[in-house]
Amino acid sequence: MEDIVKSDVLVVGTGIGGLVTAMFLAESGFKVNVITKGERPEESNTDNAQGGIIYKGEEDSKELLVKDILEAGAGASNPEAAEILAEYGPKLVEEVLIKKVRVNFNRREDGSFDLTEEGAHSVRRILHADDLTGRAIERSLLNYISGLENVEIYTSHVAIDILTLQHHCRNPVFVYKQPEALGVYAYSEKEKRVKRFVAKATVIATGGLGQIYLHTTNPDVATGDGFAMAYRAGLPLINMEYIQFHPTTLYHKDAKRFLISESVRGEGAVLKTPDGKEFMKKYHPLGSLAPRDVVSRAIHEEMTENGYKYVLLDLASYMDAEKIKERFPNIYKTCLKYGIDITKEPIPVVPAVHFACGGIKVNMWSETDMKRLFAVGEVACTGVHGANRLASTSLLEGLVFGWRAAERIKQRWNEFSQEFPEPIPWIDTGEFKPDPALINQDWITLKHIMWNYVGLVRTEKRLKRAIYDLRHLWWEVEEFYRKAKITRQLIELRNGILVGLVVARAAFRNRESRGCHFRKDTQQW
Ligand code: SIN
Repeated sequence: MEDIVKSDVLVVGTGIGGLVTAMFLAESGFKVNVITKGERPEESNTDNAQGGIIYKGEEDSKELLVKDILEAGAGASNPEAAEILAEYGPKLVEEVLIKKVRVNFNRREDGSFDLTEEGAHSVRRILHADDLTGRAIERSLLNYISGLENVEIYTSHVAIDILTLQHHCRNPVFVYKQPEALGVYAYSEKEKRVKRFVAKATVIATGGLGQIYLHTTNPDVATGDGFAMAYRAGLPLINMEYIQFHPTTLYHKDAKRFLISESVRGEGAVLKTPDGKEFMKKYHPLGSLAPRDVVSRAIHEEMTENGYKYVLLDLASYMDAEKIKERFPNIYKTCLKYGIDITKEPIPVVPAVHFACGGIKVNMWSETDMKRLFAVGEVACTGVHGANRLASTSLLEGLVFGWRAAERIKQRWNEFSQEFPEPIPWIDTGEFKPDPALINQDWITLKHIMWNYVGLVRTEKRLKRAIYDLRHLWWEVEEFYRKAKITRQLIELRNGILVGLVVARAAFRNRESRGCHFRKDTQQW
C-alpha cells in the first residue's frame, strides 16, 4: 500500500490558522493536504472558543487596538505583529468570515453587528455568534473548504515528526545544507501504520498545549504536538513561560473545567467572594474586566489567603433572565446540566490553563527558521501576545497570519525544490505494546507537576523540582518510545512531557515576573 502521500502544500491541523492557509492556497490552484489527529475535522481549540473575534467598534481605530494589545501584553509584545494584526484583522474578518464563508455573527434588530466587550478592551469591538463563536467560524470554514476540489482532509492522522533533510535523509552531506522541511511522518490510527506526507511547503497549525496541565479549558487534542515536533527538529521556541490562565471556568466536580466566557464579565457580571463581596477593585481599577493575568492571580490570591475552593461570578444580579438565556444559551444550558441556574444564582469559578502565548518563532510572514516550514495559530509565536494575550485576539491571529502564510508560500513557490533528493527513509517502530496503565499514570504525573510547580505562581524551588522530575519522566518515555509500537496515546505523551520540560525550563530561566509568568520569589515587574 502506498505510504507516501504527496501534495503541493501540507497543513497539519484544522483550527482557524490551518484552514485559512489551506483555503487561500487551494483557491490559487495548489493541491493541499490537511491532516488532523481528530476523528472529526472540527476537533480543535478554535471549535471550543466561546467569546468572539475582534472586528471594529464605534469610535475604534487601529491605533487604539494596538494600544490595547500592547498594554495587555505587559511590554513584551512585538509591536510590528500587533500593527499587522490591527491593520489586516478587521478587513479579513469582513472579507473572509463575513462575506466569503458567511459566519452567522449575531446582529441587532437594526441589522448592525451585536458587538460585545471583554477584559482590557477600550471599546466594544468583538463579534460573537451567541456564546459559541469558534464553533460557528470553524464549521463555516470547513463547509466552505468542502466545496474546494483541491483540498483533502485526512482525519485520525497523528503527526509524529517533521521530516527534514538533515534528520531523515541518509546522505551525510545534507548536514551542510540549510535545514529544510519535506513534510511529516504521521500515524494513521485507522490503518495502524506510519505514512510519509511530503510536500514542497509544510504548515504547522497544531494548536495549543493545555492538556499538559491538570485543569484546562482546552479540548483533549491540545497536547502540544507541534511545539514538540518543532523542538525536536531544532527550531527555537520562544516565550514558552507565558502560559495564560483563563480566570473563569466552572467549578463543579463533574465538569471538565467548562469555560465561562470573558464576555460574561464584558456584559456586566462581577466576581465576588463565596460570601458575596466584590474583590477585584482591590487589585485593578478595571475591576472584573482587568487583564486576564491580573484577574487570574487575584482569584488565586483570594482562594489561597482565605481557603476558598472557588469564587463566584455573579451575572444574575446584573442581567435580566431572558436576556441571559438569549445571549449565553450554551453557558446557561451547560451550567443548568450541573444544577446551576445562572439566571438565578452566581456561578462558582476557578482559573484554568487556557492559551500558550509563546511558540515556534516565526517572522511576520509565518516563516519559521527552517526553509519550507511555516507555523500559524497558537503553536506559532508572532509576538502579538507578548506576556499576556488580549481576549479575542487568538482567532484573529490565526486568520491574519494564516492568510500571510499562504501569501508567502505563493511568493516563494519557485524557490522551493521540486524533487526529493533521495528515497525518504521509513521510521522503525518497535514491538512492545504500550501498557495503558503506565501511559495514564505518566499523564497524571505530568499534569500534576505542571499544575503544582509550573502554574499560576512559580518559585525557583518549584521549577527546579519540575525540571528534575520531568527530565526523569522524559528519559523513561523516550526509552520506551523507541521499543514500543506507535499509538496516538504514546505520541501525545512523548510530546506532552517534552513541552512541559520546555515550559518549565523557560519559566526557570526567566526570573522576572511579567504578564502571566509570575515568580513569587523574584522581583515583580
Ligand atoms: C472567552 O470567551 O473568554 C475566551 C476568549 C479568548 O480566549 O479570547
